[in-house]
Amino acid sequence: MSTAADVAALEAAGVEPGASPETWTALAGEVLRGLLATPKTLPPKLFYDARGSELFERITELEEYYPTRAEAALLERVGADIVATVEPTELVELGSGSSTKTPLLLDPIASSGRLERYVPVDVSAAALDAAVPSLAERYPGIAIDPHVCDFTSQLDRLAPAAGGRRLVALLGGTIGNFQPVEVRALLAELRAVVGPGDALLLGTDLVKDPKVLEAAYDDASGVTAEFNLNMLAVVNRELAADFDLDSFRHEALYNPTLERIELRLRSRRPQVVRIEALGTEVTFLAGESILTEISRKFTRESVERAYDDGGYRLRAWYEGGGYALSLGSPRR
Ligand code: AVJ
Repeated sequence: MSTAADVAALEAAGVEPGASPETWTALAGEVLRGLLATPKTLPPKLFYDARGSELFERITELEEYYPTRAEAALLERVGADIVATVEPTELVELGSGSSTKTPLLLDPIASSGRLERYVPVDVSAAALDAAVPSLAERYPGIAIDPHVCDFTSQLDRLAPAAGGRRLVALLGGTIGNFQPVEVRALLAELRAVVGPGDALLLGTDLVKDPKVLEAAYDDASGVTAEFNLNMLAVVNRELAADFDLDSFRHEALYNPTLERIELRLRSRRPQVVRIEALGTEVTFLAGESILTEISRKFTRESVERAYDDGGYRLRAWYEGGGYALSLGSPRR
């Protein structure tokens, strides 16, 4: 598809792209491919418009959703050790969102006396706008250099490390959204921003009782259901589609073979959805689903394998509360 033509068509339809034209066009292409595929899929980054980011914040506070609390407790316990191991001068945080846990890393770096720069990277401009002012106030004298981009394809926009050492963090279990081949590609691509003396810090949720996992993604109060369905509202707005949210239901199942939670939106009835900006219609059978997210659950072995496949070695492993943090460094 051609960028200019699509953006022009969209503007003619009176739709304002929420992202830059390149980002929007890439997204439109992904949505088209995903909805024409069998089974149908949509990319999880579509969750995070302003409403979706707000719903995700509420998810992190749910009784059933333990990963955020487990990661924060772990960071609190081992943050200083991570900083002593890597001796970073800057923190690059991929998928930084609201940056709520960022002080758990920035504080020990600041205490080491080496903190120069913080680079939050997120697809949500709203989340970055909300996070930056209070961080600037909390860490006066350091450079805060936010980037609104999709770290799976636009890492070239990140300026190279300015002399010192870099800690590149991908927290919250975000890496779990990617299939093994995608993790391998991402880690390989990340070598462009993680230099020889630098380190990657990964947060990964661990394999555990499927009941605990499924409850974390299908909470009693229905916040996760609303979060999942909001993706259709995003597609409606961004691509002038007419998804009826009440015609789909949220589903979260653990797949023990692939060791992952699978989030789906299941069509309650046969229906046809018009996607104006893509000039197409998508047909759903009753019970047909869209896979909207995978959330992989790891073991120390599978994390080690992921680093290995991506060209890194595992440098440190910390776990607690069914969650793990690990440091990886590029192999030569
Ligand atoms: C932000 C990808 C880590 O997989 O647990 C939470 C997203 N989806 N509840 C996760 C999510 C539904 C979350 N990550």
